[in-house]
Amino acid sequence: MGEAIKERAVFATKIGAVATTVGSAVGLGNIWRFPYEAGIHGGGAFLILYLIFVLLIGIPLLCAEFIMGRGTRSNVLGAYRKLSPTRHWDYFGILGIVSSILIISFYAVVAGWTAEFCIASISGQLEFTTQEARHEGFMQLTTGANSIIWTLIFLFFNFSILFLGVTKGIERASNILMPLFFLLLIAFCINSFNLPGFSAGINYLFQPDFSKVSSSVILGALGQAFFSLSLGLGCMMTYASYFSDRNRLGKTAATTALLDTMVAILAGIIIFPAVFSFGLSPEAGPTLVFEVLPHIFNQLPGGMWWSTLFFLLLFLASLTSTVSMSEISISYFCEEKGMTRKSATFTSAFFSFIGALLCAMSFGWLSDFKIFGLNFFNLFDYVSSNIALPIGGMGCSIFVGWVVKKRYIENQLTDFGAFKFKFIGILVFFLRWICPMAIFLIFLNSIGIL
Ligand code: PHE
Repeated sequence: MGEAIKERAVFATKIGAVATTVGSAVGLGNIWRFPYEAGIHGGGAFLILYLIFVLLIGIPLLCAEFIMGRGTRSNVLGAYRKLSPTRHWDYFGILGIVSSILIISFYAVVAGWTAEFCIASISGQLEFTTQEARHEGFMQLTTGANSIIWTLIFLFFNFSILFLGVTKGIERASNILMPLFFLLLIAFCINSFNLPGFSAGINYLFQPDFSKVSSSVILGALGQAFFSLSLGLGCMMTYASYFSDRNRLGKTAATTALLDTMVAILAGIIIFPAVFSFGLSPEAGPTLVFEVLPHIFNQLPGGMWWSTLFFLLLFLASLTSTVSMSEISISYFCEEKGMTRKSATFTSAFFSFIGALLCAMSFGWLSDFKIFGLNFFNLFDYVSSNIALPIGGMGCSIFVGWVVKKRYIENQLTDFGAFKFKFIGILVFFLRWICPMAIFLIFLNSIGIL
């Protein structure tokens, strides 16, 4: 075990560990997915449910993944294997690895759009005057060959970073970029105050209309909480396997959840006032943010520069998320399949490229190809976020709550008694009962049994 620890990279500093988990959590999930999910699910009520799920399910599960990852210093499958002699739990490890490839496949397409929008901002291509022209421009940028090329460019960036290794590339980039991104979001939020649709947008986002709550709204909010916190697929577990022994897991979990949620809310405050100011519909779906943002930038002095900077930082925030997703399968291929890091990275890249091609083509040649009424892009998103991640999270919760010894949990949370952690009893109670039961009931509800 001692040898194994020495061989594995360890994040150099505590702040580095927090910055990288926040780097994984903050990304398109907050800026792109949260506003569009809130938009199609009625705004305020969705937000409240999402917040409840982050607090009651998200934070306990972050702790559970951290405990398994840092305790075993293993990839997701290895973590289950080290902590239990039975092989039944392997399925949750495998599910996590498959989900990570599904997510990166559609994520890379949207991340490709951010890169395209960044370049289009510099060349003035985003300065349309009418909504129709803007929609037309958006379609041109995001469909057909363009979309495919930029998806592949994004993946190329992603896997190049991974060749540089965990500690160097990711840690340095996250430390500098995340705070800068946060500041930029605050600046745009302040700008929202001056928009004519400010109060309409804020009411939409913060005033819950509970008559709009349906089973799909509840499942959507749960899926969003998992997606945004990078939970349920072993991503946080894998990252925690690189934490140093000194890292306070409970604090890291709370900080990650808090910052991630703040960014999502900031994104909402930026997007919804603009939606109402410029006469757009909050229910536009996945294209919402890309159609709204150019409106905001256009009315700002030096809009082109704001736009360039925003999309550049969003591109980089997406990279820190996809790097963390890829690390799940790479660490699995290295540790369970005995591959070198280089060939593990190639293998992960290979599967991601195939999945991403299918998703990118959903906006072109494959747009009519549907399974259960969904194209590949929407199917991969729905299946991973709303089904696979909650199931993975339920498995992890039951595993840490019932199979892992309480002493083990305590040792991880207190660094073998070096400091105090007051919430162990509550945490175990949540992991045993509240989290798995809540997820189970939401599933029953969504298939119409409850
Ligand atoms: N949480 C990331 C985001 O909000 C997405 C992600 C999901 C990253 C799953 C890793 C694993 O953008």
